[in-house]
Amino acid sequence: LTAPGLKGRRVLVSAGPTWEPFDPVRYITNPSSGKMGYALAAVAARRWADVHLVSGPTSLPAPLGVHLHRVTTALEMKDAVTKLAEDMDVIIMAAAVSDYRPVEAAPQKIKKTSGTMTVQLEKNPDILLALGRDRSASRPNVLVGFAAETENLVQHATEKLTKKNLDFIVANNLTQSGAGFGVDTNQVKIIERSGKIIELPCLAKEEVAERILDRVEQLLADAAHY
Ligand code: PMT
Repeated sequence: LTAPGLKGRRVLVSAGPTWEPFDPVRYITNPSSGKMGYALAAVAARRWADVHLVSGPTSLPAPLGVHLHRVTTALEMKDAVTKLAEDMDVIIMAAAVSDYRPVEAAPQKIKKTSGTMTVQLEKNPDILLALGRDRSASRPNVLVGFAAETENLVQHATEKLTKKNLDFIVANNLTQSGAGFGVDTNQVKIIERSGKIIELPCLAKEEVAERILDRVEQLLADAAHY
């Protein structure tokens, strides 16, 4: 038997940061460039998957043969992902979704005053957590998350894997050079539900995407996932 690969599979990838505005010209965000998520989308499309890429603001061109859905805020990303999720065989959340958003966004540019300024934040919904908890018929066959950590990488990533009910999680040590935000390379550990850890060396993000999608293909080929 040969593995069916990703041909005809519907794959949703999220990428990039979200912008959470508190006035028309200012927002809270993070340094995600979108490179990791775009690499996943590009590689999945080259493997003949039907790819939907939900992307926060980035300067990257749309990968060839991918349906690109542009969003700005975490709430917009949640809407886009939730609408598409029902039809997907695979969902990979590589986006760096802002955990908080300003409670209020002023309609006009906020004027400078002499004192300090306070921006009150409220929690954004956790998109991946909701997908993982919804293990109904609408849940995809394979659900993958990323974990971006600055300490206790394996412990924190494993907690997210369990809490968010994922098939595996890609753990990113943000303190390592050549890994994480903005750079063209990444160094990750793939942590599985069984506790097995696949440690990858520092590789181009496209190569990391190949390894992640190899693992996705194995899970899809596994009878338990049909
Ligand atoms: O974009 P690049 O510059 O290439 O950088 C790549 C990357 C560092 C952004 C990427 O490799 C990465 O680690 N992405 C996940 C970043 C992140 O937000 O991690 P987290 O540990 O805060 O979140 C855990 C998981 O939950 C992630 O899959 C995230 O997409 C998801 N999440 C988080 C918060 C939220 N409100 N909703 C979510 O779905």
